Amino acid sequence: MLVADRYRLDVAIGRGGMGEVWRGHDQVLGRPVAVKLMLAADSDPEAAARFRLEAQTAARLHHPQVVTVFDFGAWQDRFFLVMELVEGHSLAQELETLGPLPVDRVAAVAAQTAAGLAAAHRQGVIHRDIKPGNLIRGADDGVKIADFGIARFADDSSAALTGVGQIVGTSLYLAPERALGSAAGPGSDVYALGCVLYQLLVGEPPFQSDHAAAVLHQHVAAAPAPPSWRCPRLPGAFEEYLLRMLAKRPEERPAAQEVADWFATAVWQGAAAASVPAEAPASSAYAMPRTAAPAPTVYALPKTPAPAAGSRRAPAASGRRRSAKPGRQEGGDNLHLRVRALMRRHKVITIAVAGAVALVVSTLLSMAAIGPGN
Ligand SMILES: Nc1ncnc2c1ncn2[C@@H]1O[C@H](COP(=O)(O)OP(=O)(O)O)[C@@H](O)[C@H]1O
Ligand SMILES: [Mg+2]
Repeated sequence: MLVADRYRLDVAIGRGGMGEVWRGHDQVLGRPVAVKLMLAADSDPEAAARFRLEAQTAARLHHPQVVTVFDFGAWQDRFFLVMELVEGHSLAQELETLGPLPVDRVAAVAAQTAAGLAAAHRQGVIHRDIKPGNLIRGADDGVKIADFGIARFADDSSAALTGVGQIVGTSLYLAPERALGSAAGPGSDVYALGCVLYQLLVGEPPFQSDHAAAVLHQHVAAAPAPPSWRCPRLPGAFEEYLLRMLAKRPEERPAAQEVADWFATAVWQGAAAASVPAEAPASSAYAMPRTAAPAPTVYALPKTPAPAAGSRRAPAASGRRRSAKPGRQEGGDNLHLRVRALMRRHKVITIAVAGAVALVVSTLLSMAAIGPGN
């Protein structure tokens, strides 16, 4: 089969929500390509224009961690997208066959994917559909991001709520602000990447349910269970950073470039800087995988431990512990201390009482002086 008189389709590589992908060959330039055949071109009169715009935007991106777009157009009432062929497999396939990845490999995926995202964000392009199926591991073991820009074309957030099956796949990585109807921003991609990293570490994304609406609700309202519960070897620093990527508010998440830089060094191997709960809390504040009923409150993990309410005291010297019964030691016995405190608080009364006492004493003295003995 020859698409647009130029691209020969050889073998179907995969099928996703938006169409099917073929391994093909560009007859004009004589090189292997991947061809994605998408939705019917006439399904929406505005779709063609939108698709063209998105494909043009995606085609401007050139980065080693981004699948390059070569061409796009309409053919036999379908849109097609021609892109760089990545000889390899998606991380969705890798998860399916191998299960969770070793922590260092997840860190490498984080660094590479975030670098690709950062390059796109610098050009004002948001991916909108970061998920394991769109991260393809090539023969060199590096990861490339596929499907840049076309998620908007498929209008995933609105279609997601109506398409059966599609929503469950899409919603697993959907940022809270998008679940609430706001437009996707760079932070939405970072959140989605956080969900993917979480899944690569523990085998499941942070929030799951058979009901798409319940997943959306969890993105908005439930705190993810710390991944170290399921992945005990996860360094504290990695976990802490990952939970920041999953912050409910986009402005609290690190930017993609920061993520790329952070994971490119060995800092992720360290201990946590701030406190991340290491044990399961007594309450149901965390969404455990497969929880159908999400927790109703919005939770934010504290960046630093909150000081005890009302505590202004300097911390007690190490090794010295305060008595468990401070009342018996500090209060009750020292009456004069309490009187002094009272005196400090009621200076006027104290001065009046002292004046009265002085008056009585001087009267008594003068009476003694003019007494019968004189
Ligand atoms: N440029 C590409 N090179 C190689 N394989 C690809 C390419 N793009 C997509 N694929 C493969 O085709 C599969 C289907 O892609 P797609 O239709 O985008 O669905 P999804 O992203 O939902 O998995 C992907 O999971 C991936 O394995
Ligand atoms: Mg895809």
